[in-house]
Amino acid sequence: MEKSYNRLLDNNKQWVVERLKADPEYFMKLSKGQTPEYLWIGCSDSRVPANEVTGTKPGEMFVHRNIANMVVHNDMNMLSVLSYAVEVLKVKHIIVCGHYGCGGVLAAMGNKQFGLIDNWLRSIKDVYKNHAEELDGITDVEERGKRFVELNVMEQVYDLGKTSIVQNAWRNEQPLHVHGWVYDLKDGLIRDLGVTFKSAAELPSVYQFSE
Ligand code: CO
Repeated sequence: MEKSYNRLLDNNKQWVVERLKADPEYFMKLSKGQTPEYLWIGCSDSRVPANEVTGTKPGEMFVHRNIANMVVHNDMNMLSVLSYAVEVLKVKHIIVCGHYGCGGVLAAMGNKQFGLIDNWLRSIKDVYKNHAEELDGITDVEERGKRFVELNVMEQVYDLGKTSIVQNAWRNEQPLHVHGWVYDLKDGLIRDLGVTFKSAAELPSVYQFSE
């Protein structure tokens, strides 16, 4: 018990030694501030570490993670991260990255109760409802789950576009692209779903804000 937790602190000391060996001013430089180009919205799943799977270093990626990489429009935590990333850090790319085999998405596909988390899963169930015809038509449960993961990512990309934060950036001609990706736990590869979003014009008009 003690040992498993101490291992993290020992690893940290080792990591500091290695960083300083490569660049004696490493921490001095990083402590001056951050100018990340990317905001990553990913799943909390321990197998999808944002920096590691993208080969990015500290300082390169602003990160928000929750169960099933959701963009829930009244989630103050997500909105605060989004606002800071877009308005202050002026990231150029927002990446929503889901992953096949996502426990949150698969749980939302079923009817079992899980307790408090059911309230979170509700937003994912809404995605299912929007695509029920396509999803119900996939008889293989694993394939249906994979497609649901993809559709869920796409919906979150559109939900980012529906926020005033992203729309105001576009209106101000701030370069900002929103991408939808899926990570495959089985081969470690990320697939771009090709749903890159660059303007509010692509949204149904009821979601488009004027001034
Ligand atoms: Co997940």
